[in-house]
Amino acid sequence: MAVIENAKITVVGAGAVGAATAYASLIRGVARHVALYDINAAKVEAETLDLAHGSLFTGSSQIEGSSDIAVTEGSHVVIVTAGAAQQPGQTRLELVGTNARIFRSMIPQLVEASPQAVFVIVSNPCDVLTLLAQEQTSLPPERLFASGTVLDTSRLRWQLAQRAGVAASSIHAHIVGEHGDTEFPLWSTATIGPVPLLEWKPEGRDPLTRDELDDVAHEVRTAAYKVIEGKGATNYAIGLSASRIAEAVLRDERAVLPVSTVLTDFHGLSDVALSVPSIVGSSGASPIHETRFSDAELGLLHASADTIRATAAEVRA
Ligand code: LAC
Repeated sequence: MAVIENAKITVVGAGAVGAATAYASLIRGVARHVALYDINAAKVEAETLDLAHGSLFTGSSQIEGSSDIAVTEGSHVVIVTAGAAQQPGQTRLELVGTNARIFRSMIPQLVEASPQAVFVIVSNPCDVLTLLAQEQTSLPPERLFASGTVLDTSRLRWQLAQRAGVAASSIHAHIVGEHGDTEFPLWSTATIGPVPLLEWKPEGRDPLTRDELDDVAHEVRTAAYKVIEGKGATNYAIGLSASRIAEAVLRDERAVLPVSTVLTDFHGLSDVALSVPSIVGSSGASPIHETRFSDAELGLLHASADTIRATAAEVRA
């Protein structure tokens, strides 16, 4: 596999997240063709027009949108944002009934229209929906995965960058597990440049304390609740995260990103979708099995897996 020329991405769902994903993809020049698909014709036409009106400023990408699924045909990457969104105070897991129903009829149609595509699930609860969609379609797990904790990891690095006094891009730390309330940071292996994060001394002071690190983890875990409370939804940062994943696929970057795939024999976990550091390139995403976990972190990963499994079982019942 290699860099894809004249690439096409489809964004499914023209709500706040879908529109932000299309917008980020156009500005970043991720693909030559960007398609937006939504069953609400008036909404998808309006969002597409609004995006197209900025073409002068976004380079050579073309945007088209429709409520006809034919608009998605032949995509290299399909980013799925459709479905109900979290309301203030609601958890992501509470959306599972509605969104699993939507996915059951929609995903097979999207796969039929773009049989070779890499599918990125953004709709929540993204891990559970990925697990159910993978079971339903039997696509190789590499080719159907969730954006998972890519966004949470960006939130983590932003928090740490401020406290450590160093660029977010120089901080190698990941949030893993469920994209939700059981997610957690892999502190034991995190580094800033070449220095273990736990030993890093921000200018003129001692390393970050356990309490400060717990605060950071809490801020990250509750970040979406705070944003939703204030503006009704999160959209810009998830739009950037989803378009960044599409870029890694289309440019065959083999970038390390914590996306959520259905795991096989990953530190004792199989048949459950969870985010772990993974290699993302043109064939999709592969979990990095050599990732090290402390005993405590492994316990948290298994607890996160139990939550995903229990929620998926409720839907299957
Ligand atoms: C968030 C949504 C995308 O974390 O789940 O902002």
